Amino acid sequence: MNKLSVGVVGCGYWGPNLIRNFYENDNIEVRYVCDTDPGKLGKIDRRYPTVKTTVNYQDLLADPTLDAVVIATPVRAHFPLAQQALAANKHVVVEKPMCMSSAECEALVALAEERKLVLMVDHTFAYHGAVRRIKEVIDRGELGDILYFDSVRINLGLFQSDVNVVWDLAVHDLSIMDHLLGVTPKSVHATGACHAGNGIEDIAYCAFSFDNNLIANLNVSWLSPVKVRQMLIGGTKKMVVYDDLTPMEKIRIYDKGISVSQPQNDENRYEKLVQYRIGDMYSPVYDQSEALKTEVAHFVDCVRNGKRPITDGRSGLRIVRMLEAIEASLKTGQPQQICLDGAGVETAKKTVSTAGNKR
Ligand SMILES: NC(=O)c1ccc[n+]([C@@H]2O[C@H](COP(=O)([O-])OP(=O)(O)OC[C@H]3O[C@@H](n4cnc5c(N)ncnc54)[C@H](O)[C@@H]3O)[C@@H](O)[C@H]2O)c1
Repeated sequence: MNKLSVGVVGCGYWGPNLIRNFYENDNIEVRYVCDTDPGKLGKIDRRYPTVKTTVNYQDLLADPTLDAVVIATPVRAHFPLAQQALAANKHVVVEKPMCMSSAECEALVALAEERKLVLMVDHTFAYHGAVRRIKEVIDRGELGDILYFDSVRINLGLFQSDVNVVWDLAVHDLSIMDHLLGVTPKSVHATGACHAGNGIEDIAYCAFSFDNNLIANLNVSWLSPVKVRQMLIGGTKKMVVYDDLTPMEKIRIYDKGISVSQPQNDENRYEKLVQYRIGDMYSPVYDQSEALKTEVAHFVDCVRNGKRPITDGRSGLRIVRMLEAIEASLKTGQPQQICLDGAGVETAKKTVSTAGNKR
């Protein structure tokens, strides 16, 4: 079978991880690496002598046999680069967050769906062995009904000048939550604060409500003296603690919980009785492969077999809608609804097909 030919765009901090993982996949030929900064390309020339390097993105689009483009530039460039690639009939992998706005995401989803191209967002954690293992545990009902999702992602982080801590860090928690729970929250109430005098929040607390009694909270911060990457997922049967920083036993599954019963005697009939269940804890093993390696293999499978990636454009859109709602809540201090409907994509599809008819 022919190898899938790929061009990677953006070769700063994250791009080289993508280049390495795409290069190491036997079913892929990395044909181009593009960066507008020629200084970034010298290392690629030395390390991957068979790969063509270029500062001109049009070189990739003009190659009719190039199958896919992988975009790892700053977020503001994701939309124009991805749109041009899809318009040139290339499959696309785009970094997280997918775009600067949900309108941009909708336009990309519409274009990809109209042209039957794979559009995948690099929500890397969805491919991490630990997260995949937790997903298996949830999907087979071991936790029971999910009651809460609680995530802390804090450290003394790099203060960014263009995005706040939510767009920088919470995007990971949102994509894990979206992947694991499989339901989108109804609304979010976020509070945050800026301490660097630039109006950019460096700490945020985001409380989500869902349709049932499920509740979720994210705490993200660049202003913590210690680094914490911890997630708790509680269910009616069992509860999970996922600590991404611990070298051993990253996932712990606790057979702990409560049961509530009505007292029999009349005197206390309005008091519910809470009984505690304290059982065993076990730490399941999981696939230790690098998440990006798994993700690249999944991308090949999706392109070859016409499958929809687990982190497709629609999941990228859901995450950006959640980010926008958090942002609006931070600014107004009020809870914000999260848009769930697909109307935006359908409207964008009409625009795509009208533009197609005019050509
Ligand atoms: N999945 C993850 O865990 C993860 C981790 C880090 C960063 N990221 C994402 O990766 C992307 C890149 O982040 P980074 O930290 O590597 O940024 P970076 O600034 O270090 O690198 C971006 C590179 O893109 C190049 N570039 C900018 N505009 C370009 C254009 N129009 N055409 C070609 N090249 C262009 C720049 O010259 C630079 O070399 C962001 O979207 C970020 O959110 C993802």
